[in-house]
Amino acid sequence: MNKVNSNLAEQARALLGATKDFTADMANLSALIYHNVHEINWAGFYVFKAGKLVLGPFQGKPACVEIEIGKGVCGLCAKSAKTVIAPDVHKFPGHIACDEASKSEIVIPLFKTDGTIYGVMDIDSPKEDRFGPQERELFESLADILTRACGGFS
Ligand code: SME
Repeated sequence: MNKVNSNLAEQARALLGATKDFTADMANLSALIYHNVHEINWAGFYVFKAGKLVLGPFQGKPACVEIEIGKGVCGLCAKSAKTVIAPDVHKFPGHIACDEASKSEIVIPLFKTDGTIYGVMDIDSPKEDRFGPQERELFESLADILTRACGGFS
């Protein structure tokens, strides 16, 4: 991981280490990402509830509250349990537009320490093709820090 990203991961470890409260940790992690990663316009969480993804803490414009598993970028991530990158959201089948400024998007699955998925972390950018291997590595690592900070959920 490059120096900038490993510094951010270190900050996340320190920030989230203060509590095991999931809502507080998602709130602080979305703020940390939003204010430290350049060229992004939305950063936040959707969590599994009653068979759907339900909006959690975030930074950015108001967003859709519920997403069906399999729909849009978040729904595909939830269904496949794999990181999904949409370099151009307008070309992504079923993309759900929350902020018209968003042009690219990355969605990371959130895993419990037992390997089951419990939600997704979603980051949007007003720039096309904003997310590559370095961002993927950073955000996957931040998702892992979140799970561990909350005790792993298992
Ligand atoms: N664009 C997402 C929906 C969530 S917002 O970007 C915050 C999607 O297609 O899943």
